[in-house]
Parts: sequence; structure tokens; C-alpha cells
Amino acid sequence: MKTATATAHSNIALVKYWGKRADVDRNLNLPAVGSLSMTLDGLRTVTTVAEASEDAFVLDGAQAGGKPEQKVFAFLDRLWASAHDTPRPRCAVTSVNHLPTAAGLASSASGFAALATAGASAFELDMSLPTLSQWARMGSGSAARSIYGGFVRLDAGTAEDGSDCVARPLPGVEDWPLRLVVVQTTRGSKPVGSTEGMQASRDTSPYYQAWVDTSIPDLDAAQAAIEARDLPRLGGIVEHSCFKMHACMMATVPPIMYWKPASLAVIQTVWAARQEGVHGYVTMDAGPHVKILCLADDAESIAARCRAVPGVEEVNLCAPGPGASVEVSA
Ligand code: PMV
Repeated sequence: MKTATATAHSNIALVKYWGKRADVDRNLNLPAVGSLSMTLDGLRTVTTVAEASEDAFVLDGAQAGGKPEQKVFAFLDRLWASAHDTPRPRCAVTSVNHLPTAAGLASSASGFAALATAGASAFELDMSLPTLSQWARMGSGSAARSIYGGFVRLDAGTAEDGSDCVARPLPGVEDWPLRLVVVQTTRGSKPVGSTEGMQASRDTSPYYQAWVDTSIPDLDAAQAAIEARDLPRLGGIVEHSCFKMHACMMATVPPIMYWKPASLAVIQTVWAARQEGVHGYVTMDAGPHVKILCLADDAESIAARCRAVPGVEEVNLCAPGPGASVEVSA
């Protein structure tokens, strides 16, 4: 095998994914709904996979151990076994996250996109981008989107084997100066992991089926708004998808509530700015942070308003980012 170092950027869903298909092999990790995202520059994971005398996973300079390590090596086992009958070589996996881990800033997206990309190159598997994206999805649903840069649409599909659950890049980001203002409202890990949360919502939220049933119209409407470069239209869909997902989460038993008081204060600040003609549109994931989609010209003004909100820890500006890349050495 080779030594391969991959870089993958985080992405934020503009039309959200929440829920997994229950009728299929769980290992495929197939989503019940499609999603549409923007890959971000700056927030990224760099992962090296190299042959070693024993398996070891070092995350941000420390031996990871436990569940994260098990997930990484279970993933590499399957990746290797997809093309070989022989036992997998032992591997040293080193990952550096240039973003806060497990705080709702989607480190699993860049993490599994980087691991799939580095692993496939290290094992000398000649994979197309759609195949790589499907492998990344098996690690984490949102990771399927981080293989590509810019806007990415991931359709849920209906096939048993997941063959029609494929991410694809959508044109539009090159000639549209968009930014995402990332507002962190707390430090530390999220209380409910996404896999666990999605299952609980499917099992108990009375809004889950409505959430699933209204996903495709949201995806089509968002894609049309991107094609028209219409930010108010896209922003309306972004907020609707976000609040529908959080309503579904909150109606789960017991409730899944990722918001902090500062999250709501930031949302209200963004809406107040809109009244003054500064156009930002909010979205939130499985954590308390708020991300605001806006034009580059408005990003500083929105960031300054958010920095002034009590409880806000950090504000970062992100531009659209590239797809995953890899460097291979002997
Ligand atoms: O694929 P996961 O386990 O990172 O789940 C992502 C879920 C959300 O961030 C809430 C929404 C999304 O589409 O990214």
C-alpha cells in the first residue's frame, strides 16, 4: 500500500438531512431524505493513512482510542475488503481537524470524506468521485457531500443497494459571491449524537413523516433558486428546512433541543438586520451554533452584529470551498 494524505472541507446543509432509511442494510447508512449543501473553505480535516506495525488512530495529536478509533478501523476494514481477499495491512491514521470536533460544526463530514479519500488512495483503489462519495456516506451521511466543492445535492434514492443515493455538484457558486458566517454559541460536544437523534425522531416524532414527505420539493426549490442566483428565495427555503428539522427534533420523545439562549438571540439579530436591508438567512445543525448565509458584501456587518450578542463565543467567515484532494507517496 501507499501513504496518502487527503484534505476534505466541511459542508453545511442548506436543505437538511435528518433520518435514515429503515428498510435497508444499516451499514449502507442510507438517508431517508436528500440534502443540498455548500462546501466551506477553512474548516477542514487533513488525514494521512500509512502502513504501520499496528493500527493506531491519532486525532489532533492524541491517541483517539474507544469508539472513534473503532469506527475508523471498521471503515478501513470494509474499504480494503471491497477489493481484496487478504487481511488488511495495519494502518497508522493521523487526522487533524481545523474546526471544533463534535460541536455541531460537522467534523464528521470532513472527517469521513478525508478518511475515504486517503484510504482509497492508500489502498490503491481506483475510485470515481461518485463511488468515493458513497464510501464517505457509509461513514457519515453528510460526508458524502464533502467529496465535492461548492453546492452539492445528495438525493436519497429508492434502490435497496443505495446505488441511486448519489451526491453531485451543482454549478452556481463560481459566479455568486456568497459567504457563511459561522457563529459559535458554546464550546464543547453536542449532547445527542446525530445517529441516535435521527433514530429517536423516526421512532417518536409525530412530525417525522411530514418532514420526510416535504423534502424533495425543498431540494428542487433550492436548486431552482441557486440556478436563478436568487438569495432571498434560497434563504427562505434554507430557513424553512432548518426550522422544520428542528421542529421534528423538538417533537421527539424525549425532546432533542440543541438550541441555547444565544442561538435564538443570534437568529433574532439576523432577522432584525434583514428588516434593515442586510440579508442573512440562518441555519442550524445538530448543535447550538448558528450559520448565516449571505452575500460577501454583507458578511462583515452580520458578523459584527453577531459578535455583540451575549453568549457568542466566536464568529468565523467562510467562503465556498473546494472538493476533497489527495497526495500520494510511495
Ligand atoms: O451525517 P451526520 O451524522 O453528520 O448528520 C448530519 C445531520 C445534520 O448536520 C443535522 C444535517 C445535515 O444535513 O448536515
